[in-house]
Amino acid sequence: MRTYYCNQINESQIDKDVQVCGWVNKIRDHGGVIFIDLRDIKGLVQIVVNPDDKNLFKIAESVRSEFIISVTGKPRLRPSGSENIKIDSGKVEIVTSKIDLLSKADTPPFQFVDEVNEDNRLKYRVHDLKSNKMQNNLIIRSDVVKIIRNYLSELDFLEIETPILTKATPEGARDYLVPSRVNQGQFYALPQSPQLFKQMLMMSGYEKYYQIAKCFRDEDLRADRQPEFTQLDIEMSFTDQENIMALIEKLFVKIFKDILKVNIDLPIKKITYSESMDRFGSDRPDMRIPFEIKNISSLVTDCEFKVFSKPAAENGQKVSALCVPSDAKLSRKDIDTYTDIAISKGSQGLAYIKCNDVNDIENGLQSPIVKFLDGQTIEKILKDLGASNGDIIFFSAGLDSLVNSILGTLRCKIAEDKNLVNDEWKFVWVTDFPMFENDLETKKWKCLHHPFTMPIFNKIEDIIEMPESLLSNSYDLVLNGTELGGGSLRVNNIDVQNLIFNVLGLDNKEIESQFGFFIDSMKYGCPPHGGIAFGLDRILMLLTKSKSIREVIAFPKTQTASCSLTGAPANINKEQMNDLGLKFKHKDSKK
Ligand code: AMO
Ligand code: AMP
Repeated sequence: MRTYYCNQINESQIDKDVQVCGWVNKIRDHGGVIFIDLRDIKGLVQIVVNPDDKNLFKIAESVRSEFIISVTGKPRLRPSGSENIKIDSGKVEIVTSKIDLLSKADTPPFQFVDEVNEDNRLKYRVHDLKSNKMQNNLIIRSDVVKIIRNYLSELDFLEIETPILTKATPEGARDYLVPSRVNQGQFYALPQSPQLFKQMLMMSGYEKYYQIAKCFRDEDLRADRQPEFTQLDIEMSFTDQENIMALIEKLFVKIFKDILKVNIDLPIKKITYSESMDRFGSDRPDMRIPFEIKNISSLVTDCEFKVFSKPAAENGQKVSALCVPSDAKLSRKDIDTYTDIAISKGSQGLAYIKCNDVNDIENGLQSPIVKFLDGQTIEKILKDLGASNGDIIFFSAGLDSLVNSILGTLRCKIAEDKNLVNDEWKFVWVTDFPMFENDLETKKWKCLHHPFTMPIFNKIEDIIEMPESLLSNSYDLVLNGTELGGGSLRVNNIDVQNLIFNVLGLDNKEIESQFGFFIDSMKYGCPPHGGIAFGLDRILMLLTKSKSIREVIAFPKTQTASCSLTGAPANINKEQMNDLGLKFKHKDSKK
């Protein structure tokens, strides 16, 4: 229907016939001459309609915003001074000889230039997706997928699909379940990830697998979480951690170079989980923030101040300090706000030292705690933290997890509040996660990654005898404080796999019913293998600097896991319920 996209119209087609089609972006009636900005997926072009052709002019007058039209005409140079350098076709305009009205449109629910609340945007998503910003985001998304496919297929990776109607894969969230009509009373689970299938493909000898895979997790939603999201899922046989990391690093170099023209320096820095928790209070550290947490337990073990000396000496507890640089210019009110945050997380308080003059320990420090500390200890603390005049040091003492959570949160919050987050791309690998952690509520062991991760052990009995101190062959890739992806080397030994299930509290019968098919598959041979998965949506969210994951998904779900456009989830009728053998438990349930 078209000879050119709108953005392609330029001086080379002057006085030649061209045809363009698209959406009316804007229409201006300049008393006798009508100007239409026509928009298609590539860009904009200005259309001019002169009044001499009465019929044509009548059609132009009837055109409204967002009508879909096809325009035939001849480009000409715009009069000097009226060029628009913001658009590719800005030096020219098309003088129209024919307009075909392809589709009328009601008045749009909102203008793209207006601040529109998100509920409205999601309800009228079809209109919202016409905006420059959304089209740009989805084009970048498509480009990123293309880069991934090209890169991996050139390295002999095979793209293989795995089922959506399947059995549960434990990734730590609740499953979405689908009732079976044919097998009444039974349910499929939608995959939380293709984890077990990609491992079975390794057993089948496919060696290098990838997939752009849909995953489903019923969990509390946040700005970077969706119930239905997309992973770049990768698995390889006969490989090791270094190999997998190198493969991924080169992929990200490519993505950032092609999409943003940004160079990523290799190799990406690696830190262990334990170091990450100690220095940043988080397993997804934001490395753009120019100050970090320091464990000062060893400096305060012998001091008189019991609030510090006691946790400093206990196993599983510590005293850490966060030295906030003077640039933050924290006020008294700020200190109170940050103390309230510490208290809301369960601390007794938040000790601090305001360093007016670090060389005058007697009179140069403002603090509710210096009176409890001797001069030598204070001096050691200031030196160890490299404190300068104007800095404020916050202290947290207590359980490791509490101290990490308090100072980790404050580090990010202060940096954000005071604009101290550097505008750069800071990748970091976090490695050697603990294999298990104790669930505070159930008191049961659970996996930090998943049960198919290979633990690091000397003898196999360690798995069952000392689960609390086992680390695993695991790694997460973090960018600017967001976990982009995570992976591990996998268990390829049935005894190890069974022991892990035992630690998680599964007996042989439960292992058989939940994972029998997987263990059975392993019996016929399982190569050493490992892999990783990335949240594609999260990668896009960062690349496009979007505040919410919904900005990079065409048809996302709301915070309550529903779709404002289609109304899903929706009621089903009685016949469907009967077909599925389902009955509501409560009479007053939603019909
Ligand atoms: P994991 O559970 O860490 O690992 O998931 C991998 C990545 O998927 C993204 N992600 C999400 N993105 C949006 N919404 C969600 N609800 C959501 N949940 C996870 C994150 C995360 O880093 N099978 C393993 C991977 C492996 O071991 O190979 C897995 O799924 O970016
Ligand atoms: P106290 O002796 O309890 O009055 O505490 C003295 C100072 O230490 C106060 O400024 C408290 O806010 C602070 N503080 C108390 N408990 C902790 C803790 N666990 N971590 C950090 N600071 C604390």
